[in-house]
Amino acid sequence: MDGFFIFAAKIMKPIGIFDSGYGGLTVLREIRSLMPQYDYLYLGDNARTPYGTRSFETVYRYTKQCVKWMLEQDCHLVILACNTASAKALRTIQQRDLPGWNPEKRILGVIRPTAEIIGNYTSTGKVGILATTGTVNSGSYIIEISHFFPGVSVYQQACPLWVPLIENNLFNNEGADFFIRQDVNYLFEQQPDIDTVLLGCTHYPLIADKIEKALPGQMQLLSQGQITASSLQSYLRRHPEIDRECSRGGTMQFFTTDSREDFDRHSKLFFGEGVRSRHIDFE
Ligand code: DGL
Repeated sequence: MDGFFIFAAKIMKPIGIFDSGYGGLTVLREIRSLMPQYDYLYLGDNARTPYGTRSFETVYRYTKQCVKWMLEQDCHLVILACNTASAKALRTIQQRDLPGWNPEKRILGVIRPTAEIIGNYTSTGKVGILATTGTVNSGSYIIEISHFFPGVSVYQQACPLWVPLIENNLFNNEGADFFIRQDVNYLFEQQPDIDTVLLGCTHYPLIADKIEKALPGQMQLLSQGQITASSLQSYLRRHPEIDRECSRGGTMQFFTTDSREDFDRHSKLFFGEGVRSRHIDFE
């Protein structure tokens, strides 16, 4: 029997899903609902969240440590389900680190799949991005969207308090409502004709109803879970050499760099079901 488990553990090659904390669970939830057949490994760097207000160097260093560890757990494909890490670390890891670690493996982010489709939703040609300070300052959405939709204008608003409010489960009160309304208003002060708004942070689906209430009218409010899930599905269809390397056992493993108990208690909000996590330390 032991031999069987050793064999089973060996062939497990989960798809890795990474976030600075809980936000990536909103992405994993959609990915798993679309493709329940694969094995998944989630890592939340809860001990060092939020990433959104940190420097490029720090986000790169943290993300690199986490991704390297996930590749060592036999993930052949890792998704950075975090806009901040996608904006500030993905390209450097892909170009500088991955070739030395294992050039056959792949690391993908959430910004490009979103940029590829966002222009299809707007009639006014004006889209708004609500995101962390790091994502906004990186200019990644402006650059990526201009490749796919050169006629679309992009307006951004950094919302630095939203992730801390969400991570600390403090988003259901009037104080949180104030900051949500304030940042949404700042976005529309830049351009009132925006008709499509992206939740450019994987934590924000938790407060989507509050954001919707703060919007000045009816419009498209996009979150990235479904966008990332269908983009991943199409990627795996187009890349059978990667798809072959992702095991299909329907399992999920969860890891956190902070307290397991907190992760298990809090993650239900983001994932919709209870999880049992394990602790991993990088420092
Ligand atoms: N979920 C991350 C994102 O999509 C949150 C960033 C943070 O840790 O500040 O940007």
